[in-house]
Amino acid sequence: MHVLIPGGAGYVGSLLVPTLLDAGYDVTVYDLFLYGEDVFESVKNHPKLTLIKGDIRDLETMKAALKGIDAVIHLACISNDPSFELNPNLGKSINLDCFEPFVQMAKEQGVQRFIYASSSSVYGVKEVPNVTEDMELKPLTDYSKYKAECEKILMKYKDSSFTCCVLRPATVCGYAPRQRLDVVVNILTNLAFNTGKIKVMGGGQLRPNIHIQDMVRAYLHVLEVPAEKIQGETFNVGYHNHSVQELGEMVQSTVGKKKSVDLEKVPTDDNRSYHVSSQKIADRLGFTPKYTIQDAVDSLVQAFEEGKLPNSLEDKKYFNIKTMKAVNLQ
Ligand SMILES: NC(=O)c1ccc[n+]([C@@H]2O[C@H](COP(=O)([O-])OP(=O)(O)OC[C@H]3O[C@@H](n4cnc5c(N)ncnc54)[C@H](O)[C@@H]3O)[C@@H](O)[C@H]2O)c1
Repeated sequence: MHVLIPGGAGYVGSLLVPTLLDAGYDVTVYDLFLYGEDVFESVKNHPKLTLIKGDIRDLETMKAALKGIDAVIHLACISNDPSFELNPNLGKSINLDCFEPFVQMAKEQGVQRFIYASSSSVYGVKEVPNVTEDMELKPLTDYSKYKAECEKILMKYKDSSFTCCVLRPATVCGYAPRQRLDVVVNILTNLAFNTGKIKVMGGGQLRPNIHIQDMVRAYLHVLEVPAEKIQGETFNVGYHNHSVQELGEMVQSTVGKKKSVDLEKVPTDDNRSYHVSSQKIADRLGFTPKYTIQDAVDSLVQAFEEGKLPNSLEDKKYFNIKTMKAVNLQ
């Protein structure tokens, strides 16, 4: 099976791609490589890997990339809200406008399975203790609104020859070859390990997270289950919903095995709490996460110790918003 991954050179893709190659898939990555060209050092000569440097808004090149593709895992995105706010028109052009023509083209070119990376932020803030996939979406930002719109667009095209599935991931954490250090657990671990100090704002609000290894397992899982199990379906993918304070304490104690870490608790007005249920993907597809937040912190600590994340407090490549400002993409 040949899988095309737009956005495959990002944080999640950088671990997903070697995993798919190991599992025997042919993989084509289509990406602008905004966060570095060296993401696939360990697999770049793999006979089943094709790397295409291109913009997903360039539909002619995308069409050529679709030749012979059986499945698409669509990860390309201007990810997270602050970087999106840099230039709203740029965000819309990448995160929404080119999506429908691409889905149409993928279907015309004979792709059989299309998996879209949405986000659990599409729910907005809900007071209920368990947010399930059938609940109303109240996206609060352009990033989340466009995710919700793309979900709907994709589902319009499902039919017996074209299986469509949406995943709504929680916030991803842990080490990957293209590292993001602008997501909550990774931010805290970077500061804990490299400055010895972390601050948590507020404390009681719940934040769902998922280890990057589990996120990769989830994509592999939806690629492999029979089509009828995922056709037209949407699945939350998260693990424990820990409070921000608990996350801070976990980082403090896990990094604390190596060096002492001060934890400061600062009051905040931002008491938004998210509690995402991932029961549906467990019940319907038999998928359950295996890795904890502590595992994610350990993986980052090991990477710091091995020198795999040099200049981690400063280098813009770890921080989407800083990179986007620097590359000035139009
Ligand atoms: N990381 C998380 O915590 C998280 C949580 C929920 C959802 N998601 C979603 O999962 C997907 C992957 O997330 P990630 O953390 O790996 O993101 P990322 O920012 O690390 O990767 C996105 C990739 O898309 C590429 N890209 C951006 N614009 C492009 C364009 N116009 N043409 C071609 N390539 C382009 C970038 O170069 C980058 O390699 C995204 O859609 C994201 O919204 C991520």
